[in-house]
Amino acid sequence: MPNQTTRSIENKAVLVTGGAGFIGSHLVDELLVRGASEVVVIDNLFVGNPDNLTDAHAAGKVTLFKDDAEIASSVDAIFEQHDIDLVFNMATKALNYSFTNPANAFATNVNVVLNLLDHQRRGSFESMCHFSTSEVYGSAVYEPMDEAHPRHPTTTYAAGKVAADLAVESYVNMFDIDACIVRPFNNYGPRQNHLPPLAGIIPLTANRILNNGTPEIHGGGTQTRDFVFVTDTVKAALDAFAKLPSGESVNISTDNEVSIDDLIHMICDQLGYSGEILQQPARAADVACHHASNAKLRSLIDFGITPFDEGLSNTLAWYVDRFGDHR
Ligand SMILES: NC(=O)c1ccc[n+]([C@@H]2O[C@H](COP(=O)([O-])OP(=O)(O)OC[C@H]3O[C@@H](n4cnc5c(N)ncnc54)[C@H](O)[C@@H]3O)[C@@H](O)[C@H]2O)c1
Repeated sequence: MPNQTTRSIENKAVLVTGGAGFIGSHLVDELLVRGASEVVVIDNLFVGNPDNLTDAHAAGKVTLFKDDAEIASSVDAIFEQHDIDLVFNMATKALNYSFTNPANAFATNVNVVLNLLDHQRRGSFESMCHFSTSEVYGSAVYEPMDEAHPRHPTTTYAAGKVAADLAVESYVNMFDIDACIVRPFNNYGPRQNHLPPLAGIIPLTANRILNNGTPEIHGGGTQTRDFVFVTDTVKAALDAFAKLPSGESVNISTDNEVSIDDLIHMICDQLGYSGEILQQPARAADVACHHASNAKLRSLIDFGITPFDEGLSNTLAWYVDRFGDHR
């Protein structure tokens, strides 16, 4: 098992599950910047999009398997064809999907990581970085939420992510494999899925405004989230991965809270929208507060945070450029 400072990306062959998705595709870009010898992506394109890897493909080191990482034989095929050193596990189905298909939202989060962990214990690769989520904490019982905060999932999506965390921790404990967990809070930035019903709040609201729709606030808007710009997340994840002891987890968060009400108004202002904002009932199982501690992350790495208004403006510009303004 490597010590705390020996995990490196340079000259390593890396497998990224869910690598055609939002954070995954930015991670692929950063892996190439950091000298990965090859990057293999498995993504079933549930919401992932091969276009997200257009820049990455230019390096000639990326292979995309359009396949399902929940299927053990699909994962087996990759390890048979590629000599993988490191794995980043990002595959998931969006939280909102758990209201449509609660069992599969749970199962995806569990089965993908089990397929990987079982390969790792048989020696198929060296180290794994598993992506957890702030959703595992549920609503805060104390603030800011640090890594010791109790895990109180409120959806099957989050329950599956808790189960995945526990699987990583128990495989490390039982088989002495090298695996650690990064736990991002809400991410935003270019390439996030903007299509309902699975879109996150920023692309969803931008998409509504740009297409003559009406923005919505659910449940009063006082609920808060800790928004992290996606490129800050991937850099922090890779820097933390270099140092985080096996079996441990670390939050990736800004240590700031933005209320949903403020967020919607900022998006409206930046897109020059002054029309109606619909007030809708609270969503079932919506967590009230996500104010995180990033003290552990800062003790490990030098964490750069993009100011929220700058990141938001960058993000909205990407959506306007990519999908146009149809007002
Ligand atoms: N976006 C956020 O705000 C956020 C916050 C905290 C944690 N995370 C975590 O970060 C990771 C990446 O999230 P994201 O926002 O990029 O989501 P995303 O939905 O954009 O990416 C997930 C990718 O996994 C793919 N996928 C789904 N099921 C699959 C399967 N069975 N086999 C292969 N691929 C499959 C999807 O097609 C998609 O491309 C996830 O583990 C998520 O839990 C995200």
